[in-house]
Amino acid sequence: MCVLMRTVFWDDAACQVKMIDQRVLPARLEIVACASLAEVAEAIRNMTVRGAPAIGASAAFGMALAGLQSTATSRDAWRAELRMSAVHLKAARPTAVNLAWAVDRIMRVVESDQPLAALRQQVLAEAQRIADEDVAINKRMAEWGSTLIDDGDTIIHHCNTGALATVDWGTALGVIRTAHEQGKRIFVLVDETRPRLQGARLTAWELQQYGIPYAIISDGAAGHFLRTGQAQKVFFGADRVAANGDVANKVGTYMLALAAHSNDVPVYAVAPSSSIDLSIQDGSQIPIEERDADEVLNIQVNGERVAPEGAAARNPAFDVTPHACLTAIVTEKGIVRPPFDENLARVLRPDL
Ligand code: MRU
Repeated sequence: MCVLMRTVFWDDAACQVKMIDQRVLPARLEIVACASLAEVAEAIRNMTVRGAPAIGASAAFGMALAGLQSTATSRDAWRAELRMSAVHLKAARPTAVNLAWAVDRIMRVVESDQPLAALRQQVLAEAQRIADEDVAINKRMAEWGSTLIDDGDTIIHHCNTGALATVDWGTALGVIRTAHEQGKRIFVLVDETRPRLQGARLTAWELQQYGIPYAIISDGAAGHFLRTGQAQKVFFGADRVAANGDVANKVGTYMLALAAHSNDVPVYAVAPSSSIDLSIQDGSQIPIEERDADEVLNIQVNGERVAPEGAAARNPAFDVTPHACLTAIVTEKGIVRPPFDENLARVLRPDL
């Protein structure tokens, strides 16, 4: 990022997890310190940190924090505490599989056969590796994905998938950023992304820093731009990809993909292999987080709340785009095209 800072990082001197507070951007760039596992879990839940890979790295550092702070004197007692920490963290947000993926990766170290003092350090080292690998993986995905972008493209992008959604660089927005650095002239139509406005607040802020021209559009306007030939491609990220290629992503992605598919506009999901869950067959098995109704209702116009007092709201944070709407899924291992059930497994498990 231009601010030369990772979205989430470990502060060794303070023994704390630090993260950019994404609730207050773009008004203020503030860093929040988490001094306990409970604070990391709450930061994930309240979306101080958000975006599937950023959540995964935060959880990994949260586990490291718990491991270092534990006063357990036996390895068994320490492991029992960390098993509880894992359950606590995994419950923070259910849809992005990166959270469980990162915690499980840490747990493999926790359960490994080493002395307790070494384990405490190994867990921190593994968390740091997860964070470092995320940046490298994003850059590899961006190289692959940038081959799909042509000079002069106008791209519709949903939610925020940039440096802020990851440890650094980004997934779908990372692809756009790399294509821009290659000298391709790109214009981005930024879905505002109701109700949390990750597009209008975070993606717009990032694009401004990178010098990439853009315009914010209301989510409902995307169909108009697609039908009138004013957008050549659609790019978004993924919180979880099922074995058949169905993609769970920020709510609104499904309607965007449908409109693009129906107008023969290519649709690309960009996701690291840590977002791909081959253990589930299709998108119907992906848990969809439902967040507080206030996120939908507390929108103000002219200083007044829009919805009448007592109004009810439904607030699914994600939806599932069926694989039939996707042109390709970009991973760090290559660009995966249909049939996704065969090709995802082949890319992720080269032994098959
Ligand atoms: O609720 P959020 O802001 O965490 O949702 C984020 C998204 O849906 C992103 O598109 C997704 O995490 C993939 S990009 C890294």
